[in-house]
Amino acid sequence: MRRYHSGPDFRRAHSIAELAQMAHRRLPHFAWEYLEGGAEEELTLARNRQAFADINLLPHTLVPCHGTETRRTMFNHEWPLPMAIGPTGYNGMLYHDADIHLARAATERGLPFTLSTVSTSSLEQIVAAVPEVNLWFQLYCMSDPQVQDDLLQRANAVGCQTLLLTSDAVLLGNREWDKRNFARPRQLSLRNKFDVLCHPRWIRQAVWPQGMPSMANLDRYLPADQRNAAGAAHFIGAQMEKTLDWDYLARLRDRWPQRLLLKGVLHPADAEKAVALGLDGIVVSNHGGRQLDGVPASIDCLPAIAAVAKGKLAILLDSGIRRGTDILKACALGADAVLLGRATLYGVAVAGQAGAAHALDLLTNELHLALTLLGQPDMSRLTATAANTHSPLFTVS
Ligand code: LAC
Repeated sequence: MRRYHSGPDFRRAHSIAELAQMAHRRLPHFAWEYLEGGAEEELTLARNRQAFADINLLPHTLVPCHGTETRRTMFNHEWPLPMAIGPTGYNGMLYHDADIHLARAATERGLPFTLSTVSTSSLEQIVAAVPEVNLWFQLYCMSDPQVQDDLLQRANAVGCQTLLLTSDAVLLGNREWDKRNFARPRQLSLRNKFDVLCHPRWIRQAVWPQGMPSMANLDRYLPADQRNAAGAAHFIGAQMEKTLDWDYLARLRDRWPQRLLLKGVLHPADAEKAVALGLDGIVVSNHGGRQLDGVPASIDCLPAIAAVAKGKLAILLDSGIRRGTDILKACALGADAVLLGRATLYGVAVAGQAGAAHALDLLTNELHLALTLLGQPDMSRLTATAANTHSPLFTVS
């Protein structure tokens, strides 16, 4: 039986699941559903977790362990751990300056932090607050070429060397909870306004006295009277380029000489196209189960993608990472690293930077422990075999 600690002190959360419980208690309903929800029936959201549970670990015994090795070389750089904080939007809704807290927590541990296009702190604010950050930037393709170009120039100007183009969200997925919680675009329903008043701690941590966060990266492109959540939501809806295609990506490749990754790859043929285009990496991702419901778990798509792309570009994976063993399984099946979304958001929602750092430490400690108990202390030597070719079960050893 799973038991959860019920006190308010985040340091007593022994797992990401416990941090999630604390975040649930802390956040008003609309913010919690935004963080936790998936699209439609949430089939993919559930599958993301189940797929990790379906993978077995087959340990070797009597392996002396003189310490574990989790370092990874990727992009000509050595990472202490195969993980980075991935891009998530509207983080300021969880905690004031949440993007900055996440960036600090990642930077303190030598890990990259990815800022979303729809972030509530701007590229410039992140770099001013955390000058030593290893900043990655997630780009949504904007239909106005001037906006697009300006975003790229700004990313370049602040020293960002890694760009992730998200390709699976030219339209937002069907999130019914979002429609329920808002009476009009970005106008909370009466019921949700009342619920907000029942969460004074969240009001203090997120919106008082500074007010609701704005889309800091995009504010400058909005008319002065629309620099609020409703104005930004309308702008983003109008700006998302629905004709995004491989030609666009090829042009972006020419336009952005630094590292370019495509985020939202599930099909091995698309991974092959990314290799052919000379991309630096892909993110095997179903957007945390928030876009097309019914697609497979990212981890289920990974082996076929690794078969065609491993060693030709960096392979990252997101969607469903909640345990150190999940990171171990992803790396054994061919990922070079994973991106964290909800796992660190639970932490930041509970206690800002310290909460995000706690989430990173939980995952790190679990990973080291799992490597020792597996009898394979060196991550780079993990192997995977299909335990049963008629099922998606894999064994990792
Ligand atoms: C989402 C967008 C912002 O999943 O990526 O909500």
